[in-house]
Amino acid sequence: MTEFGDLLDFVENETGFATSYYDESYLDRRISARMRRRGVDTYGEYLDLLREDDAGERAELLDTLSVNVTQFFRDEKVWAALRDVLVETADDVRTVDIWSAACADGREPYSIAMLALDAGLDPRNVNILATDIDEDALSRARAGWYESTRTADISDQLSFLDNPGEYVDRDGDRGFQVADHVKDLVTFERHDLITDDPKSGFDLVACRNVCIYIDKQYKLPILDTVSQSIREGGHLVLGQTETLPGEVKERFEAADPRIRIYRRVPDT
Ligand SMILES: C[S@@+](CC[C@H](N)C(=O)[O-])C[C@H]1O[C@@H](n2cnc3c(N)ncnc32)[C@H](O)[C@@H]1O
Repeated sequence: MTEFGDLLDFVENETGFATSYYDESYLDRRISARMRRRGVDTYGEYLDLLREDDAGERAELLDTLSVNVTQFFRDEKVWAALRDVLVETADDVRTVDIWSAACADGREPYSIAMLALDAGLDPRNVNILATDIDEDALSRARAGWYESTRTADISDQLSFLDNPGEYVDRDGDRGFQVADHVKDLVTFERHDLITDDPKSGFDLVACRNVCIYIDKQYKLPILDTVSQSIREGGHLVLGQTETLPGEVKERFEAADPRIRIYRRVPDT
């Protein structure tokens, strides 16, 4: 076993962060950044720091490794297209069931909820399930509180909406609280896209910016889980740099390929 391998094993066993799911070059970049910060040159020396938990290094590393980077209305042009998908779906079905898979701290599912309200959907007919593997991210998501320091341009992000002021309560310069009528549309739950079962019957699933960090071998299981969870005619949206692997691609037609929106076709 190499020093790097020992380090990854230690992180997986002692912190519960599943290093084996992640792309090694991604892990190496993140770990090397912590090593530079702490002024150590070898993986072995860094492992010693982790063993001693010197200056809370385990927590610092975990923070660096968990990629919860997200924002409200990330990739604006996708959201204009999603508005149409929501409106068309609401015309077709009684309730619109949406899954934000890998929702991080909740900004994605809350964006979907705000968009549905902004587009005039009846809130009684909108159900959003939001899941992530990371319990800390889920508790921040449930709280729905976003500090101005971490979301400096949140007003800009919400300016995509027709009536942004209706969906958040601003607390001076401290931050924003997502309004209750938005929170009421979203249910948060822990779900591991690699090991947990697929769901079923969703009209729209967003699975964005998770596969880019995950080791190649797990992309297919993730997208298989996700695609089985969408009803025929339902939509899937991926992150802007993500693609569907061949095995899953045949279950979809491109609804808008430039912005990674796909429609599930009937099984053959
Ligand atoms: C970069 S965030 C993406 C957030 C949001 N979808 C977006 O595009 O803004 C990636 C999220 O994937 C989650 N994640 C990583 N592995 C996962 C897995 N196996 N199952 C579910 N979520 C996972 C991470 O915890 C993180 O919150």
